[in-house]
Amino acid sequence: MRLLVTGGCGFIGANFLYAMRRNHPDWRLINLDKLTYAGNPGSLRALEAEAGDAYEFVHGDICDKDLVTSILTERGVDAIVNFAAESHVDRSIDDPAPFVTTNVLGAQNILDCARRAKVGRVVHVSTDEVYGSLGASGQFHETTPISPNSPYSASKAGADMMARAYHETYGQDVVVTRCSNNYGPYQFPEKLIPLMFTKATAGEPLPVYGDGENVRDWIFVEDHCRGVELALLKGHAGAVYNLGGASEMRNIDVVRTILRLTGQDESLIRFVADRPGHDKRYAMNFDLAARELGFAPSVTFAEGMKRTVAWYQDNTAWLDEVRSGAYRNFMDRWYKERA
Ligand code: NAD
Ligand code: DAU
Repeated sequence: MRLLVTGGCGFIGANFLYAMRRNHPDWRLINLDKLTYAGNPGSLRALEAEAGDAYEFVHGDICDKDLVTSILTERGVDAIVNFAAESHVDRSIDDPAPFVTTNVLGAQNILDCARRAKVGRVVHVSTDEVYGSLGASGQFHETTPISPNSPYSASKAGADMMARAYHETYGQDVVVTRCSNNYGPYQFPEKLIPLMFTKATAGEPLPVYGDGENVRDWIFVEDHCRGVELALLKGHAGAVYNLGGASEMRNIDVVRTILRLTGQDESLIRFVADRPGHDKRYAMNFDLAARELGFAPSVTFAEGMKRTVAWYQDNTAWLDEVRSGAYRNFMDRWYKERA
């Protein structure tokens, strides 16, 4: 298998590349990444050192038709997993434009180049956020109407609709996965769990949006990667598969867990102005992926959090490396407005 992974220098893409190298040492892995503020080649240093010719990094944009086409044809790519995206909801509220460019137009370009180059399969990595928000009960099913609430989730929904259209119109082999909130090693410290870890470790206030009662369904990143791998190997062309962690948590409880694991006091918690359009609750029904792919999350929240906090404690150099000037500019402006 010659597999093109896009966005491999990001959080989930990097974890996925390590997992594919472990599970399929005979595969050739090509990673196309634009290296935005969220892309960190340092995350893949160990893979690069160990894999030799079995791994190749290409610095570039998924919106670049000529580049994507040349990668597909010159390397004889068999399948693509598209992780590349602008992924942070708060940044999409601050400036939606790059989200439309990469998440909609970039995804459409990947589909189009793949179709013309006759690539065997495209797995498009989407999100539970395309379904919008749940009340106190119920779950998202694959048949739940798409109802995104943020510029980020609207752009991801646009890409999902493109994936559907390319399958229906051209008969292209496209599989869409929609997963819940990931956590684990290499996650950029703008997202809730690594952000709260860095704040707690520094003894700084932890900014909890609104009343902290919003609920997310947390999945350890390795379980998500396994779900994407199964979709690649066993999914039906044209199918959408929900993936989740069966681990619903209120934000305030996630924050308390981090404080406990870092030995810090709850007096550091600060309730700050809510995120505009903040989705109340996500919960995934992944019966279809369980039935058709054999997917099941294997890491409990308690175990995954212990591993995650230990990883960040052991990798402070990685954290320092990714918290560049671009990171600080956005973070300072965004949280100043919420205080
Ligand atoms: P991330 O922000 O950590 O990484 C995104 C990567 O994509 C970065 O390496 C970045 O440089 C790269 N990239 C951005 N624009 C690009 C472009 N135009 N061309 C090439 N590369 C580009 O994101 P993540 O959290 O790893 O998410 C990966 C994918 O999974 C996204 O599609 C996201 O929507 C989806 N997803 C994420 C979660 C989650 O909880 N993080 C859950 C479900 C789905
Ligand atoms: O559900 C899947 C999605 O999960 C992915 O598609 C997105 O790419 C990913 O970023 C994530 O989106 P969320 O908005 O759910 O994740 P985030 O870590 O930004 O926030 C999680 C919850 O924590 C959310 O309810 C907002 C809250 N929060 C977040 C931050 C950054 C806070 O209370 N304070 C904060 O400072």
